[in-house]
Amino acid sequence: MDVVTERIRIRPASMDDLDSVIAINIECLPEHYLKSFWIEHIEKWNDLFYVAEVNNEIVGYALARVENGSPITKNMFSKVGHVVSIAVREKYRRKGIATMLMSALIYTLKTIYGAEEVYLEVRVSNEPAIRLYQKLGFVIAKRIEQYYLDGEDAYLMIKKL
Ligand code: ACO
Ligand code: ZN
Repeated sequence: MDVVTERIRIRPASMDDLDSVIAINIECLPEHYLKSFWIEHIEKWNDLFYVAEVNNEIVGYALARVENGSPITKNMFSKVGHVVSIAVREKYRRKGIATMLMSALIYTLKTIYGAEEVYLEVRVSNEPAIRLYQKLGFVIAKRIEQYYLDGEDAYLMIKKL
């Protein structure tokens, strides 16, 4: 069946989704986390952890948390969202799934948590992700040298909410 005609569902992640989410993270990104990290995120930030489902299969995820203090203005009183990780399985890319996942996070950060801005780090070579974020209104705020373990720099990208 053609994937394009299938229904994409975005919903909060549950503990049962974690094995699929971890597999997608390993498949798509060099930054991995201990299982305890994922479990803690579901317990603490369940409404900031979404999965995308196509025909009952998890094909992508996105998670964020809320922090006090802007990484740019250094205003310690502003509430900011921090997108920790997002990935979509290769076969399901360019169908708007990451856009839907990010939109769900941004909506919750703004309306439930009252966040004033949202930020993330991305590899300077990661053009697909940088373009996705720019399309969503993020701008590059600064470059962080050797942010990643392999020595690559990151862009810190930010969006006002
Ligand atoms: N080349 C150019 N632009 C792209 C590409 C690409 N390969 N992929 C996405 N975009 C841009 C386009 O503007 C696109 O809109 P369009 O298709 O109408 O032109 C827009 O982003 C939205 O694309 P989506 O379909 O919503 O994105 P997708 O579901 O394909 O997921 C993602 C994008 C998450 C970056 C995916 O490619 C992926 O999983 N990559 C590997 C993991 C990764 O790099 N994650 C981000 C790391 S940074 C972090 O986690 C904070
Ligand atoms: Zn980060």
